Amino acid sequence: MAVLAICSGKGGVGKTTVSANLAVVLTLFGKVLVIDSDIALPNLHTFFGLDDPFISLLDVLKDESYLKDAIYEIKVKLKDSEDRDIVRELHVLPASTSVKALEEIDMERFKDVLEKLKGGYDYIIVDVAAGLSKYAIIPMLSADTSYLVVNPEKASILDSQKVRKIADVSGVSVGGIIINRYKGEKRMVEYAENAIGAEVVGLIRESKLVGKCWEEGVPVTMRQPYSKVSKDFFDLARRLAGEEVVIRPYGKLKYFLG
Ligand SMILES: Nc1ncnc2c1ncn2[C@@H]1O[C@H](COP(=O)(O)OP(=O)(O)OP(=O)(O)O)[C@@H](O)[C@H]1O
Ligand SMILES: [Mg+2]
Repeated sequence: MAVLAICSGKGGVGKTTVSANLAVVLTLFGKVLVIDSDIALPNLHTFFGLDDPFISLLDVLKDESYLKDAIYEIKVKLKDSEDRDIVRELHVLPASTSVKALEEIDMERFKDVLEKLKGGYDYIIVDVAAGLSKYAIIPMLSADTSYLVVNPEKASILDSQKVRKIADVSGVSVGGIIINRYKGEKRMVEYAENAIGAEVVGLIRESKLVGKCWEEGVPVTMRQPYSKVSKDFFDLARRLAGEEVVIRPYGKLKYFLG
């Protein structure tokens, strides 16, 4: 079993998009739970069409609800490699957008929650808040491996360098970098790898389908499984599940660094 934290320095780079789609595709490889640990500004639930208010991680951390009541089952419809329809179940532990007394939350309890869940799943994906607050650091440190999501721009990569340093001093293993919103920027992969000191394990292209499907409350990998961007997510998931998948940068020969 593996607990994978999806992190970033800079906000808005696509952690929740990656968490939701990775969780969907990993259901092909085992039993999956995806957790929204961004309790200050959560939105994972919107990818799965869950409407607030609902019982959430916030209630569990405040000891006001049972864990089992905060976990929601989503039917995932996918295609396997031979194009057959398959239906899998994905579990989602959302956080709530309610602003009830965030300061009273003992984030350390997140580790206990995770411990209780570990036995039941092959993969637990943790969507982590941006930055270096306790809401981000504690979930990141609770995972076995963290992945850094970046956009193909310098600011995003420099911010992730800091997260990498925190991971290093805290003994958290960094499994790799996921470049999201890739538009074929030349030398981007090597730049990110050198700057952050980890391997690029996923290259997710920029696609209008991502936002469009989100608005419909369904991850793009479910709504448009044959799209190129979904193939990128499938490749990432296969790689994290241990399959050999080669990352091939492509592009318009536009120089990233000028
Ligand atoms: N590959 C992509 N192509 C196009 N748009 C994308 C892609 N990935 C993410 N986006 C868009 O970028 C925006 C931010 O995505 P998302 O909410 O997943 O980022 P985040 O890192 O979780 O943000 P936050 O730090 O606020 O939690 C959304 O509008 C989303 O639709
Ligand atoms: Mg997010």
